[in-house]
Amino acid sequence: MQELLSKAERLLSSTPPKMDEERLGIFINSCLRHKDIFLDLARRHGSPLYALDEKRLRSKAVLFRRAFSQAIGNVDIFYAMKSNNMPDVARILVEADFGLDVSSGLELQQAITVGAQRIIFSGPGKTDAELSAALDHAERVTVLLDSFGELARLDQLAGKRKEKIQAGVRLTTNPNGLWRKFGIPLESLHEFFSQARKSSFIDLCGLQFHTSWNLTPGAHTDFLKQLGKKLCELPLDLQRCIRFIDMGGGYWPVQGEWLRAKGTPNGQLMDLLAPETIDSMARHCLESTPIEVFAQAIARTIKSEFPKDLNCRFYCEPGRWICHEAMHLLMTVVDVKAPDLVITDAGTNAVGWERFEHDYFPIINLTQPGIKENPCHVLGSLCTPHDVWGFSYHGSAIRPDDLLLIPTQGAYTYSLRQNFIKPLPRIAYLPAEVVLEWAVE
Ligand SMILES: Cc1ncc(COP(=O)(O)O)c(C=O)c1O
Repeated sequence: MQELLSKAERLLSSTPPKMDEERLGIFINSCLRHKDIFLDLARRHGSPLYALDEKRLRSKAVLFRRAFSQAIGNVDIFYAMKSNNMPDVARILVEADFGLDVSSGLELQQAITVGAQRIIFSGPGKTDAELSAALDHAERVTVLLDSFGELARLDQLAGKRKEKIQAGVRLTTNPNGLWRKFGIPLESLHEFFSQARKSSFIDLCGLQFHTSWNLTPGAHTDFLKQLGKKLCELPLDLQRCIRFIDMGGGYWPVQGEWLRAKGTPNGQLMDLLAPETIDSMARHCLESTPIEVFAQAIARTIKSEFPKDLNCRFYCEPGRWICHEAMHLLMTVVDVKAPDLVITDAGTNAVGWERFEHDYFPIINLTQPGIKENPCHVLGSLCTPHDVWGFSYHGSAIRPDDLLLIPTQGAYTYSLRQNFIKPLPRIAYLPAEVVLEWAVE
């Protein structure tokens, strides 16, 4: 008990890093500079609206590829469709020479429809129907097997059709807790290869791992070290089977993680102990690491820890790093119930989770523009009190019919949108001249 109390004391007296207000001001001003374009977009397409920034999406693709190509050389990049499954996002990235990382038969079908020529199919619990769909497109799909059972089922299905397919195996990065559901333990790798070799139809030639929510390259490099050690122990003939190593996604966007006080560890504890004391206007930013630094750290680890004559390509599966900055949300004030309480036409079913209770993003009034921040409960129109967009807005006032912008909502929002009570926003393309400045590398 004493130990717990000391831990709680340490947590409560810690101060999470504050948001860089100057940078935030630059970012909001850059949104305001383009207000007429956003206003025009909403006039033409209606409100609420997802505004897709194609130019930004393409530039993120270029920057990601450049960082990893310069550091590692032989890389292939597969966009993780789950992070934003708008078909146009996948199509644009395929045009940018990305492959696609899919995690279901549904995503596989979408990837085929947008013309992806290189597809990796990962994820636990693939059904026979999903494995059969992969076999239907065996010339462009690599199945990342999740278990011995999945290996046996794919072998059986492929055998029935006398169809060969390329495969890899996913490795568990943490054998404890809920992450153990993914892949096989590293210790089983040798046995997995031996089993796969018995199949005439499965060409097992790669490994995959994925770690999530990484502000620094530590999780990648830690697992790569373990993997390097294991690879050095593998017999040479098995090492030679490995033609790719897929390092997954999990690269945090350059903006860093923006949190309300309630989203920080000490805020979570305060929320239990004394919720009324939490400052709803406070905001924090956990710095992330530039993508070049991620790539260089990974490259160094590969160089120092992997067998010297391992001859394979490296795959990355970025999701949020690519799409986070490439979509924005526009909505309109429907009801001003008090100077500090407004309801918008969009509900948080547009993002699919109660994101803004913990995460911070500025709400920018484009109709009554201004950098000044005003305390105000900006809430959606769903019949739930958890339908929260934020606790302040930037502007000179707020009135019915004002158009509000919440920028950089591209990752894990559109794909999680819910058919719940209110209609979903439409989609429109943002003209190319819009440049939001936090986003510029
Ligand atoms: C297997 C796999 N690859 C890639 C990703 C993309 O991760 P992120 O969006 O954090 O880059 C995910 C996300 O859950 C995943 O499960």
